[in-house]
Amino acid sequence: MDLTNKVVWVTGASSGIGEAICYELTKHNCKVILSSRRESELLRVKAAMKISEENVLVLPIDLEKTNDIESWITKIIEKFGRIDVLVNNGGISQKSLVGETTEEVERKVMEINYFGNVALAKAVSKIMVKQQAGKIVVTTSILGKFGLPFHSTYAASKHALYGFYDSFRLELKKDNVSVLLVSPGFINTNVAVNSITGDGTTLNEDSPAQINGMKTNVFARKLVGAIKSDRNHIYIGSKELLSIPFKTFFPNLFYSIMLKLSKGK
Ligand SMILES: NC(=O)c1ccc[n+]([C@@H]2O[C@H](COP(=O)([O-])OP(=O)(O)OC[C@H]3O[C@@H](n4cnc5c(N)ncnc54)[C@H](OP(=O)(O)O)[C@@H]3O)[C@@H](O)[C@H]2O)c1
Repeated sequence: MDLTNKVVWVTGASSGIGEAICYELTKHNCKVILSSRRESELLRVKAAMKISEENVLVLPIDLEKTNDIESWITKIIEKFGRIDVLVNNGGISQKSLVGETTEEVERKVMEINYFGNVALAKAVSKIMVKQQAGKIVVTTSILGKFGLPFHSTYAASKHALYGFYDSFRLELKKDNVSVLLVSPGFINTNVAVNSITGDGTTLNEDSPAQINGMKTNVFARKLVGAIKSDRNHIYIGSKELLSIPFKTFFPNLFYSIMLKLSKGK
């Protein structure tokens, strides 16, 4: 896909991976819609993009408020007339033992990471089907491929995205709409700091995995490269990605090693 002049909607654009994707997209002369809850942060990103007013729209959204989706789409269509790419990236992590996690927290993580994400893609796909063209990009995680202690609900939400989009991709193919699932490893963002704990409070604590993770600009360059290609799926990260073939080919050994590693926590 040639990205020149394409209309790209990025969720989670106020920080981390989504912010870096917005900067990378400006190099490809895209028209960009920036979405997340914090309008002030979206405006900061917009200013840093140095993009002309006619090519950008700041559109605050809350993925827990799926009843508002049609009004968000109307605003985009009024300004740009179409949506070529949805980068469905906004999300939240969770850090708490299963026994210490309330059902309310489990539902909140699923609302944002799964139900909000899917509702947005369903609504945007209708526009793309009418256009007979489009691409839905979804940020999952390597924790969409295996689980870890303290991350049960987060891992469940990311596993669920795989099940949904591997199916939806096949339904959309006939209408020339494609789905790219992106599975980051450890990326240097505030995702751990912004995690919610078992009682719903914000963790406010960073993790060595994120501190030492891939830089967001490197991630964004690889992701935008994948958007331009015909790929269905991409892992982006560093040596942590070895966990994927290791789990696939040696699942018992994988879980006994994970058990040993997690006993230190
Ligand atoms: N960093 C990693 O190592 C890593 C690894 C695997 C997967 N991921 C995934 O990558 C995506 C981006 O995360 P990140 O690492 O860039 O972390 P981040 O810096 O915490 O970014 C999360 C983004 O999601 C937005 N968001 C959170 N709740 C929202 C809601 N209810 N409605 C709308 N937007 C919401 C946040 O903006 P507001 O607060 O302004 O709403 C923010 O822009 C997430 O889906 C995450 O699960 C990250």
